[in-house]
Amino acid sequence: MKMYHKSAIDHPIFKILGEAADELHLEAYVIGGFVRDYFLNRDTPKDIDIVAVGSGIDLARKVAVLLKGNPEITLFKNFGTAMIKHKGLELEFVGARKESYQKDSRKPIVEDGTLEDDQNRRDFTINALAIGLNQKNYGKLLDPFNGLLDLERKIIRTPLRPSITYSDDPLRMMRAIRFAAQLEFEIALGSLQAIMENKERIKIVSKERIVVEINKILMTKKPSIGLALLHKTRLLSFIFPELTALQGIEEMEGQRHKDNFWHTLEVVDNIAKTTDNLWLRWAALLHDIGKAPTKKFHKKNGWTFHGHEFVGSKMVYRLFKRLKMPLNDKMKFVQKMVLLSSRPIILSEKHVTDSAVRRLVFDAGDHVEDLMTLCEADITTKNPKKQKRYLNNFKLVRQKIQEVEERDRIRNFQPPVTGELIMKTFNLKPSKEIGIIKEAIKEAILEGEIPNEYDAAYQFMLNKGNDLGLSVKEP
Ligand code: CTP
Repeated sequence: MKMYHKSAIDHPIFKILGEAADELHLEAYVIGGFVRDYFLNRDTPKDIDIVAVGSGIDLARKVAVLLKGNPEITLFKNFGTAMIKHKGLELEFVGARKESYQKDSRKPIVEDGTLEDDQNRRDFTINALAIGLNQKNYGKLLDPFNGLLDLERKIIRTPLRPSITYSDDPLRMMRAIRFAAQLEFEIALGSLQAIMENKERIKIVSKERIVVEINKILMTKKPSIGLALLHKTRLLSFIFPELTALQGIEEMEGQRHKDNFWHTLEVVDNIAKTTDNLWLRWAALLHDIGKAPTKKFHKKNGWTFHGHEFVGSKMVYRLFKRLKMPLNDKMKFVQKMVLLSSRPIILSEKHVTDSAVRRLVFDAGDHVEDLMTLCEADITTKNPKKQKRYLNNFKLVRQKIQEVEERDRIRNFQPPVTGELIMKTFNLKPSKEIGIIKEAIKEAILEGEIPNEYDAAYQFMLNKGNDLGLSVKEP
């Protein structure tokens, strides 16, 4: 842990902030994430929160005058806040305030207050650390709740009674878990209990804000920390009932299936080691959600989850819609990954044939490498022999993909013979025969009966037309 010294506020901007505050005869402090991350030796954020005991807007106006180069200033008069963008920094100004909350809203009633009132209203002790900017206390740390000690002990704790802090603003339940995941901190026991007690209040938080926190959890080094906490506090059942439904192991006639919830968490951790693609991490999180609704027990075959990939991909749409996430190409990507998530393993269990690889590349298109990354992360067997076999098989699949790619150009497949040419050759009007011939050509290429080339496809078309009783138009 870095010892406290003034270099936290060595940046010349803080001198200017202090000067402006002194000229206005008001106190100013830097507070929140900037101070926390400084003490943690993390890259300090570009957005810096400044509290003025008095008007935050007046302070911002003064700072804008003192800063050279005409910085961009935005005032939010209704909220009594202001923002200045300056050389890549975003300075956010607010007057110190006291907040009181009503039961059904995250919007507090706000009154002017002291620095202490302002620190009291903050979510966690580690986010309530403030550093003085006026000449009389420049660089002085004000830490009424022992936030520095909590940083050292790696604890997420609230300044007030936890039930008040979380009930006031239930988003903080998600923030506590997100910070615990990001910083690899523990949540204080009282806080954990308060989150469990207030879990239902997550309903008053907008879906968009929840998703911001989920995305941050998914982007951590070990997302299972955050996901397991969501599960432990029971918040998960409000956010992702589809995942809660995966938890548990059933036994019938001595046959058990694996716990697909804990398996999913392992898969997300695995994929976090190999990719920073948020949507691929989402795919890992959702790849098995179709397993709960498709689970069946058969006397002969044991537990089955037939069609879970298809059902799961449909569930992705509903889940994204419910969470008000964009229903765009990212969602389609996640759906595609879920839909195809079992294909490489099925393929690798048997002899890896060229035609099966061609079909995989045809279906996955540009996302075939992402699909392989997901499937490798999906290997959570604790049996080292099996693990080795699967990984080797996947290596073989990747190799084959490359070979097939170079030879057959299946990715983003464009039929070598167009529908128009088929119509012209056989003098056809739009009709089902054209579709039949096109499909037959595609199948022949995927099966490896003909190469993906014009001449071969043209000849194949003539033969197929002949089979269908079509005659070639005379020139
Ligand atoms: N804050 C709070 N309750 C919230 C959100 C924010 O008390 N629901 C306070 C905290 O003191 C926090 C500060 O406002 O430090 C700034 O919030 P924000 O910019 O959202 O978070 P940071 O702490 O800066 O961290 P991050 O950028 O990682 O979200």
